[in-house]
Amino acid sequence: MSRTYVVTGAASGIGKATAERLEADGHRVIGVDIKDADVVADLSTGEGRTALVHEVEQRSGGRVDGVIAVAGLVAASPVTVGVNYFGATATLEGLRPLLAGSDAPRAVVVASLAALEEVDEGLYERLLADDEPGARQEAERIGTATNAAGSSAIYSTTKKAIAQWVRTHAKDPEWAGAGIALNAIAPGVIETPMTAAALESAEGRAALDAGAPSPLNGPAAPPAAPAALLAWLASAENTHVTGQIVFIDGGAESIRRPERI
Ligand SMILES: NC(=O)c1ccc[n+]([C@@H]2O[C@H](COP(=O)([O-])OP(=O)(O)OC[C@H]3O[C@@H](n4cnc5c(N)ncnc54)[C@H](O)[C@@H]3O)[C@@H](O)[C@H]2O)c1
Repeated sequence: MSRTYVVTGAASGIGKATAERLEADGHRVIGVDIKDADVVADLSTGEGRTALVHEVEQRSGGRVDGVIAVAGLVAASPVTVGVNYFGATATLEGLRPLLAGSDAPRAVVVASLAALEEVDEGLYERLLADDEPGARQEAERIGTATNAAGSSAIYSTTKKAIAQWVRTHAKDPEWAGAGIALNAIAPGVIETPMTAAALESAEGRAALDAGAPSPLNGPAAPPAAPAALLAWLASAENTHVTGQIVFIDGGAESIRRPERI
């Protein structure tokens, strides 16, 4: 049966592949992005988040079946805090009322394998406290500092925080209690514009491989792979998976922390 999905980050990479996959399966997709989308909204701002909810309400007639929050960026900047964490939670919370009319409501957000990196404790605390001005201040302080893996400490901290948000809220009356499955996926390296520059050089590929060793089918999966996982987690078929962070990384997570069950 045809369903209506909202996909943020629909203009590029994983979000675009997800929208294409869902449409190919006969569903309706309301794509959201800062450019080239049905709903053009800057999810780093309060105005953009309000516009997202308003526009999706108008276009959907007040009912959607799935919300898939993919939009994100990797820049070492406070804007990354605004999109990856507060933009994602605003998408999920803001559109949750529209899921109430669905008989199989689902929500999924894209975290990252980077969530396994050491976090910046000051920023992590402000994110979990839902304090956006405080979190942006922490991001200003961090600046371009990197974590032990050599990537932006801001990026990895926002991704761990959004994964924790899913773990915390999935069981709540507003989510599981309302029949809404709420999950995250955590990709390793996916071939998209976000990783294109690094994947161009042998050095860049080696650095990515070191952080995300991928014995299953090699490094750098095509975006169709996470798109298929997102489509299933957001489908009516997913009746009992919730509160999970599903790694799609060719085995990297199991190599990095094999003791975790
Ligand atoms: N590519 C990877 O290897 C990888 C790995 C782990 C996680 N991820 C995550 O997957 C998601 C998608 O990334 P991608 O690789 O497809 O990158 P991408 O750059 O191809 O796509 C990201 C999309 O988000 C949109 N976006 C950015 N800022 C926005 C804003 N302020 N408001 C609205 N939309 C905005 C962009 O316009 C773009 O269309 C991101 O959350 C990213 O962190 C990617």
